Amino acid sequence: MIKAYRSSILRFATQGVPRHCAVFEEDGLLVVGPNAQGQSVVQAVGSYRDLKDQFSGVATEHWPGRIIAPGFVDMHLHFPQTNVMGSPADGLLPWLENYTFPEEKRFAEADYSAREATFFIDELLRNGVTTALAFASSHTASVNALFSEAHARRLRLMTGLVLMDRNAPANVLNRAATQGVKDATEQSLIDSEALLQKWHGTGRLGYAITPRFAPSCSAAQLRGAGELAAKYPEVWIQSHVAENKDEIQWARELFPQSRSYLATYDDFGLLRERAIYAHCIHFDDDDRALMRATGAVAAVSPTSNLFLGSGFFDYAGADRIGFNYGLASDIGGGTSFSPFHTMLAAYYAGREGQTKPGLSLSPQHLWWQHTAGAAQALGLDGQKGRPSVGNLQPGCDADFVVLNPQATPLLAHKTARVNSLDELLFALIVLGDDRLIEKTVIS
Ligand code: GUN
Ligand code: ZN
Repeated sequence: MIKAYRSSILRFATQGVPRHCAVFEEDGLLVVGPNAQGQSVVQAVGSYRDLKDQFSGVATEHWPGRIIAPGFVDMHLHFPQTNVMGSPADGLLPWLENYTFPEEKRFAEADYSAREATFFIDELLRNGVTTALAFASSHTASVNALFSEAHARRLRLMTGLVLMDRNAPANVLNRAATQGVKDATEQSLIDSEALLQKWHGTGRLGYAITPRFAPSCSAAQLRGAGELAAKYPEVWIQSHVAENKDEIQWARELFPQSRSYLATYDDFGLLRERAIYAHCIHFDDDDRALMRATGAVAAVSPTSNLFLGSGFFDYAGADRIGFNYGLASDIGGGTSFSPFHTMLAAYYAGREGQTKPGLSLSPQHLWWQHTAGAAQALGLDGQKGRPSVGNLQPGCDADFVVLNPQATPLLAHKTARVNSLDELLFALIVLGDDRLIEKTVIS
């Protein structure tokens, strides 16, 4: 069924330079209906005046004073870490050991996983996130629970079994089969492929091959993950890299033959398009060039990087060499499900100029990094028959948020005084949180 929505509308151009230019319609119309495959997509979008006659017979909801914007895209977060948020530690490795692994072990249980999946997806939608690439845990129950719940709620979601066969407590490592002779490493790869075949392409779900990070995986496990990635080029790969100095040193000791920590993943066939690496902070230019050459992308996770004291993503370095990136909450190292908090933290990370060149990311660029830019980085770019996400252009997924710029006294006070689109978007980024999201619409 065709439906139309009249309101202010924010969207992103699919072409043009720079790629992050926003298009804003003060009084706009968004028309949503099925495409040839029966999926709900944007049929038309533009000014109300230009489109109203063409769609005069279509049921139209009118939201004066509100802004329709693309649903947010979270490129990296951990489903089993909702309850880990706000756990202090002296950096990444003690945080994993003291808080993260003890919580993740609970996701061996199907019931616990199912309850947490419901809460997790409630929280994503309440915060306006309609597409996410998430880690599950090393237990198949967690993967099935998250996929099932996302399918029921029609969220566009990619996840996968966390691969970790060493250097952590036994209850968070992959397990050997209780029957038969398969060891834990072999079993984790068999389970990954079975989960991939069960869920990838079901509705809006996608599978992500998920080696946790090189220090938690044996060479055999990374090799197996790379073989799966070659066999299934359309599935995603997700991992972590170059987040923390102690982590990097550990990874270098474990894989001394590789040129760098990032190169370790390349050596096992784990850098390619649709490979998403969280953090990518402590890179040199050879690493950046390797990202560009392979088509791998960075999930920039600034609230997590600030919280764990990991460092600051070097935007100028990424742009100088030219690899792609987008934004992520990295729950539970990250401190908020709200894309507004993440965009503000990205601005802080950009400004930081002691460890790398400091710059001021524009509000349009920040917003793009969490919508159309993140979608492009994930390969949800409308190319080669793939879905188009995050820009609200015709043919794109029609998931959107309805923002209320009067949601708080301070937002109302401030947004009444803005003089440009950039001023409006920056006010929303700096002062916004879940209260700004009046509605999240999954079309
Ligand atoms: N590196 C390996 N595992 C993790 C994790 O769960 N969170 C973060 N931030 N980094 C990691
Ligand atoms: Zn992470």
